[in-house]
This record gives sequence, C-alpha cells and structure tokens, in this order.
Amino acid sequence: SYGSALHVALPQPLRAGQLLTLEIDYEAGEGPGVCWLAPEQTAGRQKPYMYTQGQAVLNRSFFPGFDTPSVKCTYSATVKVPEGFTAVMSATSWEKQEDNTFVFKMSQPIPSYLIALAVGDIVSADVGPRSRVWAEPCLIEAAKKEYDGVIEEFLAVGEKLFGPYVWGRYDILFMPPSFPFGGMENPCLTFVTPCLLAGDRSLVDVIIHEISHSWFGNLVTNATWGEFWLNEGFTMYAQRRISTEVYGSAYTCLEAATGRALLRQHMDNTGEDHPLNKLRVVIEPGFSLFLGVNPDDTYNETPYEKGYCFVSYLAHLVGDQSKFDAFLQAYVNQFKFQSITADDALGFFLEYFPELKEKGVDSIPGFEFDRWLNTPGWPPYLPDLSPGEQLMKPADELAELWAADSLNTEAIEAVDITAWRTYQLVYFLDQVLQKSPLPEGNVERLSKMYPKISEAQNAELRLRWCQIVLKNNLEAEYSKVKDFLHSQGKQKYTLPLYRAMWGGSESARALAMETFSATAPQLHVNVQNYVKKILGLE
Ligand code: BES
Ligand code: ZN
Repeated sequence: SYGSALHVALPQPLRAGQLLTLEIDYEAGEGPGVCWLAPEQTAGRQKPYMYTQGQAVLNRSFFPGFDTPSVKCTYSATVKVPEGFTAVMSATSWEKQEDNTFVFKMSQPIPSYLIALAVGDIVSADVGPRSRVWAEPCLIEAAKKEYDGVIEEFLAVGEKLFGPYVWGRYDILFMPPSFPFGGMENPCLTFVTPCLLAGDRSLVDVIIHEISHSWFGNLVTNATWGEFWLNEGFTMYAQRRISTEVYGSAYTCLEAATGRALLRQHMDNTGEDHPLNKLRVVIEPGFSLFLGVNPDDTYNETPYEKGYCFVSYLAHLVGDQSKFDAFLQAYVNQFKFQSITADDALGFFLEYFPELKEKGVDSIPGFEFDRWLNTPGWPPYLPDLSPGEQLMKPADELAELWAADSLNTEAIEAVDITAWRTYQLVYFLDQVLQKSPLPEGNVERLSKMYPKISEAQNAELRLRWCQIVLKNNLEAEYSKVKDFLHSQGKQKYTLPLYRAMWGGSESARALAMETFSATAPQLHVNVQNYVKKILGLE
C-alpha cells in the first residue's frame, strides 16, 4: 500500500551537475500517507477532512520523491479545494488566490517526511506575534484559550539556547480526534491531537517538544531512521532545557521521571536485551530489495528516553550547563539543513571539546559511545532527577499506602491531592500501575476517593486510569476504557490499552474485540494494523 519504486530512464546520460527537469503526472491512491475523513470523524461532524502524515516513510504514498531523511529540498504546492474549505501546509509562505486555490512555498530545504497538508473546515486565531492556532470552528475558542500568550516564550527561550528560529512562523493545527500522534513537528505548522485541549495547559510539554524539533530534527536531521534518536533524544533534551528555563527544574525533573517510567515499562514489556532497545537500530533491506523493515515498526521509547539519557550523559561529561548549551548551539549551526549520522554528531562533540577527546571519554569502560549506540538495555547513565523529589516523594508515599494489604485510611486521608499538578498525578498513577494488581478492593476505594483521577477528562490521566482498571481487572469501570478509545485514536494511548486487554481476562479480551470492531474505521490505517496484530487478526 506504500506504492512501488518509480524507475526513470533518461534519454541520454547526463553530465555531473547538469540540471534536469522531470515532470511526473500522478494520482495518489489509497496509501497510508493521505487520510480521508468522513464528517462523523471530525469534531464538528459537518464536513469531511483530509490530512497527510509523512513520518516516517508514508509520504511516498502521497507524492513521488526521494522519501529518505538523508535528502533535503524546498517545495511549493498549488492546492485547489472546494468552497467552504481551507488548505494549510508545512510551508514558510502561503497565499489564497481566487477559485479557492492556495499557493504554498517552503523556502528552506527539508526532508520529505516534513511535507504535510491538511484540508478541512478550519479557522485560525492569533496566540502570539508569530503564532496562531488552527482548528475546526467548534474548537477554536478552546484552542486559543489553551495557548494564548505562551508560545512566544518557548520560541524565545529556544532561540536563546539553540540559535535563530529559521522557519518564520510557528503555528499549531488541532487535528481531528483520530490523529495518531500527540504532536507532529511539521515545519511552520505543528499538527497536534485535540487531546491537548485539557483546559489548563497541563499538556504543553508536547508543544515544547515539537518546538524543539525546529532545531533538532527539522534543521539537523537523522540521515537514516536507524538513528532516529538523533531526532528524538536531542529533542527530549532540548524540550527539558526549555522547560527548565520556563518552569524550573522541579517540574521538569518530575516530567522527566514520567518519561523514565515509560522507558521502564517498555523495557519490562520487551525485555531489556531486545534489539530495538539500542540507540542504533538495524533497518536494512535484507536479502531482497522488497524485504525491508518499516521504520515505523521500530517505534518505541528507546530513542526518546535512552536518547535523552545519552545526551544528558554528554552534558555530564562536559560538566557545565552553559558550555553544553553552547555546544548544542554550535552543533545546530554546524549541521543546519543537513542530514547526519551519530558518528557525525559524536565526532563533532569530541572535536568541540578536545580535552574530553584527549581523555578518551568515548571509551570509558561501561559508558563507551559504542555501547550506548549498539548495546540494548537500560541506559548506563541516568541524569539526576532529584530536583523533582519534592513533587515525587509525596506521590511515591501515597502509592505505597495504596499498595498495602490493609489500608491505612488515616494516613491516606491526610494526603490532600487536590492541589497536585497533572504530572504529579501521572507520576502517582504510574507508581500505582507498577504495583498493580493491588490487594483486593483497593482500586475500588481509590476510584471513589479520587474522582479527580477516575473521572478525569485529561487524556494522560485517562490513559493511566484505564491501564490501572485493566491491570486490576476492575470490570465495573471497563466502560471508561471503551469511552476513552472511542474518543481519540492516538497510537501511544491505543496500543498499550489493547495490549493490556489482550493480556487480561476473558472479559477484557471481549472488551478489546467489541471496542475494536466499533472504532476501527476511525483509526489511522497504521494504528488499525498494529491493533490487528495485537489481537491476532492478521
Ligand atoms: N515526530 C514525533 C512523532 C512521530 C514519530 C511520528 C515517529 C511518526 C513517526 C513527534 O515529535 C513526537 O515525538 N510526538 C510525541 C510527543 C512527545 C512529547 C514525546 C507524541 O506524539 O506522543
Ligand atoms: Zn519528537
């Protein structure tokens, strides 16, 4: 369904450097890159919608091109849409011409996976000097309220840390509920799940993450998907640098601790020695050109959180935050508009810090750069998250109390969680999940005691609560799992819940089947296929 290679035979051989214009007349078919939504699949339920999702290798089903992150180019596009629709793209400039025709131009070279288009009944509202939100009319108020006045600060801090923001505007498009990602860093126009509309800005770390890709990923790009950590590990580091500047280290370390919990869960599920648990993943065509690995099948927490640990380790070797910040800025400047390998990145690091190179920091036993890249397993170095202790400790202690065989009601009631931040609750729930199943009756009590959690509308809390419901086989609250899976289609929420259902009781398996047959048509086709694999429907 991704299409097939287009072979072009030239009439005669060209000289090196000679320019060639190639015109290709084509229609995009039923590939996975272009999603066509019926009105019922949108928030407003009135008009159809279409969007593209290119990363990692889906754009080859959208347009013919060199669909590899190792090649960058500019692009322009002319898009004619029906009356009553608006088109947006990941482009540095656009104008609307007569006849509902939009002309877009991306004037900076980008890899193919960052070309993106969406068409729907969408409107926009300004939220900053170079930022606006786009959403369906019924969501635009909420979208504006969520991020009005906060985006510019993230951009400004990013520029201070990593150098100029080269993309002109930074806008955000709120997608229909089935959008499979939390966020997608399409240049100039990040695509995000509407789950971010929590009403309290509590999920803004996703925006900071996508903004961070403006330097790491979109300017300096992994040359192959086997070194995806260069995009995501550096971006996690940059995200937490911006977050530390804006929100302080306590909050940022708490958020990083929830990331570490995700890595722990992932490695527990797959086994630490799984070949995907190294930073450099083998994605090779194998014996036949047609037997490659789809990089999307290698997607997991390792490039994000182990990658974050590796970049933090590099910072630790340097020992001085401002020196490491300066290195990151020099790294971006050195490799901007290029695609690079880990060897390029690490080689530049050693060159930038000759005294470290001299000391042989790339081969300290147990921490060899080669081991980081090529050995699966738990990161050999973990950054210190103790500045978050004040926020984590009460959550750790409360989780401890709830895991006890006989509940110490007095101690539990003495803890007031009403003022806890979302990520504190998330951290608490991850601890509870890790300790689950809890002794008989405890989860029911917990549910009654904290409606703020068990009745939450916040997607990160709903995910955790659903995971707890399933791990404790709390059938009375199965409907919450069903409702959550009906309300959105993010891959990172959907797959863990199906895995949990399928690994659970008979009734949990039945819930999985029932929910999937009702929601499958709404899910992105790749997410559908991953769920089918989990449920043995392939
Ligand atoms: N670029 C990714 C999303 C992606 C990765 C799409 C691989 C397709 C293939 C994006 O920047 C991302 O990582 N989004 C995260 C949010 C983040 C806060 C970790 C997400 O969607 O959950
Ligand atoms: Zn990312």
